Amino acid sequence: MTPQLTEFFEFLRFPSISTDSRHKDDVRACADYLMQKFTGMGLKPELHETPGHPIVIARSEVKAGRPTVLIYGHYDVQPVDPVDEWATPPFEPTLKGDKIFCRGATDNKGQHFSHMLGVEETIRENGELPVNVIFLLEGEEEIGSPNLAPFLKAHQDELKCDICAVSDTGMIGPGIPTMTYGLRGIACLDFKIHGPTLDLHSGVYGGAVPNPATIVSRIVASLHNPEGVVRIRGFYDKVVPLEQWERDMWGSLPDGNAATLAETGAPGLWGEAGYTALEQRWGRPTAEVNGIGGGYQGEGSKTVIPREAMAKLSFRLVPDQDPAEILQLAKAHLEATCPDSCRIEVELGHDGPAYVMDPHSSYGKAAQNALRIAFSDEPRLIREGGSIPIIQSIKDILGVDTLLLGLALPDCQIHAPNESFTVSNFEAGIRLNRALLEELAK
Ligand code: BES
Ligand code: ZN
Repeated sequence: MTPQLTEFFEFLRFPSISTDSRHKDDVRACADYLMQKFTGMGLKPELHETPGHPIVIARSEVKAGRPTVLIYGHYDVQPVDPVDEWATPPFEPTLKGDKIFCRGATDNKGQHFSHMLGVEETIRENGELPVNVIFLLEGEEEIGSPNLAPFLKAHQDELKCDICAVSDTGMIGPGIPTMTYGLRGIACLDFKIHGPTLDLHSGVYGGAVPNPATIVSRIVASLHNPEGVVRIRGFYDKVVPLEQWERDMWGSLPDGNAATLAETGAPGLWGEAGYTALEQRWGRPTAEVNGIGGGYQGEGSKTVIPREAMAKLSFRLVPDQDPAEILQLAKAHLEATCPDSCRIEVELGHDGPAYVMDPHSSYGKAAQNALRIAFSDEPRLIREGGSIPIIQSIKDILGVDTLLLGLALPDCQIHAPNESFTVSNFEAGIRLNRALLEELAK
């Protein structure tokens, strides 16, 4: 174990699960750890309270006449359940071969910690950095960053920068440098169907009264036609079609359909006709059911008509869909599809727009040079299906683009049991940070 890995393991041990209030103190302890680390590196850290979890800022020495780079990351992590499916304890980092297993190893602790170590190495070796650096690490990304946009607005002068860099996206394969120039947006909602006022005997009343679980299923089934096209009226109205150069570039990558099957283990592909798996994942909008429930879930059978049932939906969005408008369209669709025999209750959740930048801009080219140096290979240009809503807020509020230089591998299992990050990518992240700051200084 190198001293750098030992430190990384210390950072990984904090169970900083932002969505679970029982872990509130752990999230804060993790922020305190970052404060100490930044101080030790020679940066000036600040802990900013929010109505939720704290935001950590750390600044390097500022020299006039050189660019300022904002490096964003998130130290909060996803919950660990189903915990029984972890082969090792989720918050005890475990090294097996090149892989470090731990919740948050890839998403996102490993990725931003390697940037921190890159900065630390440069300062140690050269006494200074080639650019001004501001780290911005939040503890609420996995719950939709509710307090970060207001924070950016309130502190826009102190956060003034020329470009933002983030490693919180994927690589298309081990050793293949990947620059992501777009992310999908997101819009979430929950709905509940209320039927009878109490659970009923399904023999005594079945047939004559609506079954909320059946109605939820019918509504969920109404979201797509058999070809996988979303049936919500107006859903596609503002969708910007994929450009031919993007389709060509993604078509030149190793077979995305086969990779999608291999990564997911699904017996077959599904979805909108006329698009490859990569085009669907990176450049087309979707409607997904993230949770569905109602009625008896225990062992054996129980003949009951549940009095209510629910589903949780999320929509992935592409430019120029407006998340708030999509939520209204979806709500109208759900309400219109619910029969009069039941009552529907829709609760809108968090949302954020899609993001795209020009990968051929001068900063985009600098990022590609850095990837080339760190991985000794030609960078591939992709978009990603996941969402980091704050990236568009950084554009809107601070006025700068973000270079998305992700280090997540296809088999890293973020958000799932047995998440891992490789030691190779941890080290590549350190090299990437060093090359990036050099290239951005030119
Ligand atoms: N790092 C991910 C987003 C991501 C993953 C982008 C893979 C590209 C490739 C991030 O931590 C995340 O999970 N974001 C959430 C969004 C949020 C609003 C809950 C997501 O995409 O579900
Ligand atoms: Zn995540």
